[in-house]
Amino acid sequence: MKRIVIMASGSGSNAENIIEFFQSKETAMVTHVLTNNERAKVLERCNRLKINSLVFDKEDFIKTNKILDFLKNEADYIILAGFLWRIPMKIITAFPNRIINIHPALLPKYGGKGMYGMHVHEAIKENQEPLTGITIHFVNENYDEGAIIFQAETAIKSEDTVNDIAKKVQKLEYEFFPEVIEKVILKGNGQ
Ligand code: GAR
Repeated sequence: MKRIVIMASGSGSNAENIIEFFQSKETAMVTHVLTNNERAKVLERCNRLKINSLVFDKEDFIKTNKILDFLKNEADYIILAGFLWRIPMKIITAFPNRIINIHPALLPKYGGKGMYGMHVHEAIKENQEPLTGITIHFVNENYDEGAIIFQAETAIKSEDTVNDIAKKVQKLEYEFFPEVIEKVILKGNGQ
């Protein structure tokens, strides 16, 4: 049984979906959720789901090895589910092909710093894109640039609002993210 630690900064609806998915699996289980935001709604979800949670700050994450050491002891895989800080190199090096992120667009388009959550969907609407989707990828030292594991597309109608676009993308996230994580874990080498 592999141990998954989720990192999330906000609502945590993907975190909840992943936690529930693995509750009935023998491949892996979610042992902890880590957040950089003490007011994140994901903490309420953890309480309800009885999952351990830990709030940390930049000092813990970047200056000291507190989070690195915690992850080395507690995690086989790290899943970023709406986590908004860049992962420091020391953590990337310690978890080669073991950190997986989801991005709410079809990378390499609409990635990079500042492109997260609703900002992505607003930009897609603004540019009248006919398509959007999700990208699940390994994490390297640059935002949204690690090797792509999986993408799924969804069509956008001209009358779709930013919220409609967000809902379509969320639907894909809930449908595919947990099972793609499971496939990576089953393969074992992360490739
Ligand atoms: C998700 O849509 C995820 O793809 C996105 O944040 C949302 C988190 O929602 N991630 C990024 O934008 C990363 N660049 P959630 O907190 O309800 O799971």
